Amino acid sequence: MRVLMRVAAGVLILLLIAAVGFFALAWKGEIEPVAAVDRAQFDQELIEQGARLAAVGNCIACHTVPGQPAFAGGLALPTPFGTIYSTNITPDPETGIGKWSEEAFQRAMREGVDREGNHLYPAFPYDHYTRVTDEDNRALYAFLMTRQPVNSTAPENELPFPYNMRMILAGWKLLFFEEGAYHPDTAQSEEWNRGAYLAEGLGHCGACHSPRNRFGAIDPERHFGGGEAEGWQAYAINTESPAPIPWDQESLAFYLRQGWHEHHGVSRGPMAEVTGNLGLLPDSDIAAIATYVASVMGEPDAERQARAEALLAEVSQSQSPALVDAAPAAAAQPGSAQGDGAAIYAGACAGCHDGSRPQPFGGLPFSLSTAVNAPNPQNIVNVVLYGLPPADGEATSVMPAFGGVLNDEQVADLLAYMRERFSDAPAWENLVELVARTRSGEHKVAIRPSDGIERGPENVGASGGAED
Ligand code: HEC
Ligand code: HEC
Ligand code: HEC
Repeated sequence: MRVLMRVAAGVLILLLIAAVGFFALAWKGEIEPVAAVDRAQFDQELIEQGARLAAVGNCIACHTVPGQPAFAGGLALPTPFGTIYSTNITPDPETGIGKWSEEAFQRAMREGVDREGNHLYPAFPYDHYTRVTDEDNRALYAFLMTRQPVNSTAPENELPFPYNMRMILAGWKLLFFEEGAYHPDTAQSEEWNRGAYLAEGLGHCGACHSPRNRFGAIDPERHFGGGEAEGWQAYAINTESPAPIPWDQESLAFYLRQGWHEHHGVSRGPMAEVTGNLGLLPDSDIAAIATYVASVMGEPDAERQARAEALLAEVSQSQSPALVDAAPAAAAQPGSAQGDGAAIYAGACAGCHDGSRPQPFGGLPFSLSTAVNAPNPQNIVNVVLYGLPPADGEATSVMPAFGGVLNDEQVADLLAYMRERFSDAPAWENLVELVARTRSGEHKVAIRPSDGIERGPENVGASGGAED
């Protein structure tokens, strides 16, 4: 609500600019509907190319309600302005995009305008998709038009006045939207440019990983500086990355491909879907994205590198069971909050997180965890309350939920203890309140099946799963 108040002030300005934008951008015309599109017109190779591109764009995640037909829309996307529902993008002529010509589809991706000429909300990340080439859009179109048509209409958006007026989007676009294809940086390698094209365009990494201003637009000054997505923190993936072990091209490529990394843990929440989808891409594209993101992160300085090496040495040493058992006992002082946290940790967490079980079935030693070292504790609160549900088709969870066995104070004590013990960063504030707001649903969190587990390397073996 506070966000809404802050935003309200800006709305007047937006409305004014919208009036100007209305004339400047001109009202977008309707593009003529087409008769039923003949599926046979699309080349099989083009459709398959479209399938891979749709995976990079994560279209299915936003355009599908879990358990409902794919691409039929209707998923609620909470934004600071209200709830926006994704639309049906199956080729159903009445309720989907069955009457859209390729031209209409290309325009939606490039300009964020629907077939009839209405401006679309940037919850549809066309501020990124605008960089997609015509050729790739053609493949996406071929893929979507050959999906199963589904007759289904999304619920009306729940947006208060004036956000319910699509006209103000003309003003928003004038201020914040830069239309246009990706321009290669000729000083960089071909691989780097391929990665940048995918990450900044279809992959829309910045839609979650870059902070937004009060108009919901991405702040170009803080590219990849950390953002929010569906109740999760999307950590900074630039030079401000809070990861204790600096990411590099290799670890990024492994994580994006497998959904986990031994020094970084499993990808969770909305990121689980991203890494799950990237599984369709050829290794060369994954490597390209990793090359680009690693260059945005930059090389760690000598101090950070030395600290990382010390941490890794410490972790491999503490995997001797005697040391693991001794540590929590020494830290525990019964009666104090720290002591309570230490006792809960020793009883509930240490068994899986002492590093003695290989990942992804064992838990990450917490001194390596971005979640424990991040400025904002939201993700660790989410994981402790809700656990990590199994990947689709797997029976057992990755990590059990503790929301039912620990009350708000206990979770807060536990997290305060973990922060103190496993990180040099300052203590988190207002933990009890944050846990309570998350538990009550006031802070909405999307819980998704965890990726990575189903694609753990063969030699780890499913029998090492987190069945206890
Ligand atoms: C982050 C969520 C999100 C992702 C990812 C996403 N969309 Fe959407 N999309 C939306 C929302 C929300 C709307 C409705 C916007 C509105 O009502 O103004 C939408 C609308 C559209 C529309 C306009 C449909 C119509 O009937 O007006 C098309 C076409 C579309 N999306 C295609 C795609 C494709 C193709 C991809 C993948 C490359 C994709 N979307 C990925 C959220 C998303
Ligand atoms: C739909 C939102 C969303 C999109 C799109 C997205 N991410 Fe993420 N990402 C997240 C969230 C949320 C997390 C934190 C997840 C967690 O705690 O495991 C995350 C975590 C990560 C991490 C781990 C950071 C760390 O230090 O632990 C990396 C690396 C990453 N994302 C890279 C990418 C790249 C590269 C892309 C684009 C190809 C991308 N992400 C697209 C939401 C997103
Ligand atoms: C049954 C084994 C098990 C238990 C018990 C368990 N976890 Fe986990 N946990 C895992 C696995 C497996 C993962 C996924 C690998 C990873 O990311 O660390 C995980 C991941 C996590 C993560 C994400 C770490 C990261 O940055 O990647 C956090 C935070 C976490 N657990 C906290 C806890 C806390 C706190 C407790 C005790 C209340 C606990 N876990 C108990 C198995 C367990």
